[in-house]
Amino acid sequence: MATVLVIGSTGHIGIAAITGALRSGYNVLAIVRNQESAKKLIKHVPGGHDRITTVEADVLSDKGVESVVEKVRAGSLPAFQHVFSSVGGAYTDQSMLDTTTEELRQFMTQNFESNFFAYRATIPYLLQQKDQKCTWTTCTGAQGDMGIRALPAISQGALYSMSYSACKALKNTNVRFNEIYLAGRVEVDIEAEQHGVMKSSIFARAYENVLSREDVKSTRVRVGKEEDVNELRIEQK
Ligand SMILES: NC(=O)c1ccc[n+]([C@@H]2O[C@H](COP(=O)([O-])OP(=O)(O)OC[C@H]3O[C@@H](n4cnc5c(N)ncnc54)[C@H](OP(=O)(O)O)[C@@H]3O)[C@@H](O)[C@H]2O)c1
Repeated sequence: MATVLVIGSTGHIGIAAITGALRSGYNVLAIVRNQESAKKLIKHVPGGHDRITTVEADVLSDKGVESVVEKVRAGSLPAFQHVFSSVGGAYTDQSMLDTTTEELRQFMTQNFESNFFAYRATIPYLLQQKDQKCTWTTCTGAQGDMGIRALPAISQGALYSMSYSACKALKNTNVRFNEIYLAGRVEVDIEAEQHGVMKSSIFARAYENVLSREDVKSTRVRVGKEEDVNELRIEQK
């Protein structure tokens, strides 16, 4: 059975990706920061826990995901054919002028570089599986287009450009790259109910569709409301 490697697996979006992968019949290899963090994953993913393998790594370091891929190559972790990466979650309304160099770098590392490192570490491994149909998916937000909160906007902007470049770079390969552009708020079910936002178990459906639809390749998939998770709004890149 194929496996999805999930990076940012303990976040609202990562939980949705795991839920979608399990519902699609895939196994999951989830990178977690530590065992304390892994408990969130078990708490919020409804069942299928026997199909999830967790592994600890520092995904903010440029060698974190690479170390996981080395273990996969060595056979001590399950092989994977699909990747979902949504490390991030840093949010502030601090102005650009109040931002120190160190704060800017920390922000970019958490929201952007982590996903770039994940891409660079995993794509060569997927490309080597020439006969396998592989996918690589990330999740961006609308803040990059709105510019209301500077640091979230700037880091989203970098992710847009990374996604666009990846769509181009992988177009004629065995790896389908897609960006899910989420204009709205998604949270794990229990918190979403309290805050009146979209549940991760609903958003998961968008990822299920991306996984199953082979025509969804080198695209931005826009999700703004719940209907969008079923009827994908696709923009070819
Ligand atoms: N949720 C939304 O509504 C939404 C909307 C639009 C776009 N997005 C996109 O999705 C991304 C993730 O959002 P989210 O809501 O899932 O965020 P989240 O709930 O805060 O989760 C972020 C993930 O990144 C990991 N992470 C963050 N800092 C880390 C660190 N220093 N070391 C190790 N791991 C770290 C977290 O691990 P821990 O659990 O260990 O902290 C978690 O797995 C956003 O940055 C954005 O690009 C989300």
